[in-house]
Amino acid sequence: MKRLIFATNNKHKLAEVRAALGENIEVVSLADIGLEGDIPETADTLQGNALQKAEWVWERMKCKADGVFADDTGLEVEALGGAPGVYSARYAGEHCSFDDNIDKLLAALDGKENRRADFRTVICLIENGEPRYFEGRVDGQILTERHTNGEGFGYDPVFMPDRFAVSFAEMPLDVKNRISHRGLAVKKLAEYLSK
Ligand code: IMP
Repeated sequence: MKRLIFATNNKHKLAEVRAALGENIEVVSLADIGLEGDIPETADTLQGNALQKAEWVWERMKCKADGVFADDTGLEVEALGGAPGVYSARYAGEHCSFDDNIDKLLAALDGKENRRADFRTVICLIENGEPRYFEGRVDGQILTERHTNGEGFGYDPVFMPDRFAVSFAEMPLDVKNRISHRGLAVKKLAEYLSK
């Protein structure tokens, strides 16, 4: 069985990826292999960060797995020139909360008519030292206030995907995973690995 390291300790991402990749691929997390330490994430593109994270783990763990993959996601808002983009997690500051980020985003868009935005995820898979990229994207718009029934995380309460009348934070997780940036990128990774 193929064994891949997913450069994350996020349980939700891990469960989503394991479900998508099926039983023929063993996916282990950083905690599973006992790899500790802060993985550098200093590139200025999603692709660069995904590569940097995957390479960092690959260099240390290549003998323990057939490959390594890492993901990076950003919210890109048209009226803000693509911001917060690669800086989405720290938009309102280094140790900010999801709520701080949403407050800053709503303030930045106050009075703006164009509220178009997308979420984009890039996954970098390294096998035999070679990187390969898988990208998923979902388009939508930023709402003027939070809409949530407790689902989701991050910017979910203010992101409404096209063709839906509810925010990501009002959707059952399985529906979000089917249409989301990360869900689509993971699906492409799964398709590649099943070949
Ligand atoms: P990461 O690269 O997956 O850690 O994502 C970076 C940041 O983007 C997160 O801290 C969130 O603020 C935001 N983000 C990523 N995925 C989602 C999502 O599915 N919904 C809402 N926000 C997200």
